[in-house]
Amino acid sequence: MSGKIFILNGPNLNLLGTREPDIYGALTLDDLRQACERKAEALGFEAVFRQTNSEGELVGWIQESGTDGDALVLNAGAYTHTSVAILDALKATGVPVIEVHLSNVFAREQFRHNSYVSPAATGVICGLGGAGYELAIDAVAGILKKGE
Ligand code: DQA
Repeated sequence: MSGKIFILNGPNLNLLGTREPDIYGALTLDDLRQACERKAEALGFEAVFRQTNSEGELVGWIQESGTDGDALVLNAGAYTHTSVAILDALKATGVPVIEVHLSNVFAREQFRHNSYVSPAATGVICGLGGAGYELAIDAVAGILKKGE
């Protein structure tokens, strides 16, 4: 099957590689983009990989994933823990959503334990670094192929 997997990244993820490397590692956003594009292509899908620091732009892209895409892999960054607007947008998409975090948010501060993304997600992957994105692409590819 062919299809489009949106992979959306929220605030501060543009700083990967230099941002708190003890937590997020040395991987840059561009490394992550390339790995995701390769993974999606190997499975017969197109990856639409984007990052924004703006909550409104992220909401718009989530909406677009529902109208123009087949699945969504989302690392909403800090908006994960604050944004009802993102939860509402996710509920409206109708496509499978995998929530991803590079770090293990449950091993970190209490405020990171709550997610406004999780109630609208098919699955959640955290703590596995960039490999989590590739696992998420594997997961949505499996879901989409099953639904053919
Ligand atoms: C993050 C975890 C969030 O708590 C944090 O605000 C981020 C990155 C992660 O990928 O581990 O910006 O989503």
